[in-house]
Amino acid sequence: MAGDMELTGEKIRDLAAAAIEARRKSYSPYSHYQVGAALLAEDGQIITGCNIENAAYGPSNCAERTAFFKAVSEGIREFLAIAIVGSPEGETLTQYAYPCGVCRQVMMEFCEPERFQIIVAKSEEDYRVMTLAELLPEGFGPENLA
Ligand code: THU
Repeated sequence: MAGDMELTGEKIRDLAAAAIEARRKSYSPYSHYQVGAALLAEDGQIITGCNIENAAYGPSNCAERTAFFKAVSEGIREFLAIAIVGSPEGETLTQYAYPCGVCRQVMMEFCEPERFQIIVAKSEEDYRVMTLAELLPEGFGPENLA
């Protein structure tokens, strides 16, 4: 049921921790840029993803989309937030990793832009939060086809 789950500071820390852990699974032998994501569903489930690269480059998949596609393929379609961590190979997160344009568009398909929260984190304590509407203003989504 939409609106039941609140995005508390504790939940944000849980999501950041899950994204940091997911980043450890990153398969990125070409870019050496490792990304992890943790997607919070309306029902409280957390679905993680990492970036998965390919020798042919084109088939590479971002961490955010891995998380979304895992969730949707399991029948989960309602989401509240996503935490993202990304940095060049190594333990230290040196930057906030904002989602690429393609991933923002995938979010637009399943999320309410004013409500869906995007958390970019450097650690469980150091993060920024913004809505999808802020990162994809005037986005094109399913509503436009209705
Ligand atoms: N990447 C992500 O996983 N998420 C983003 O939002 C930006 C880029 C990945 C794709 C590729 O494996 C690597 O980072 C370098 O672009």
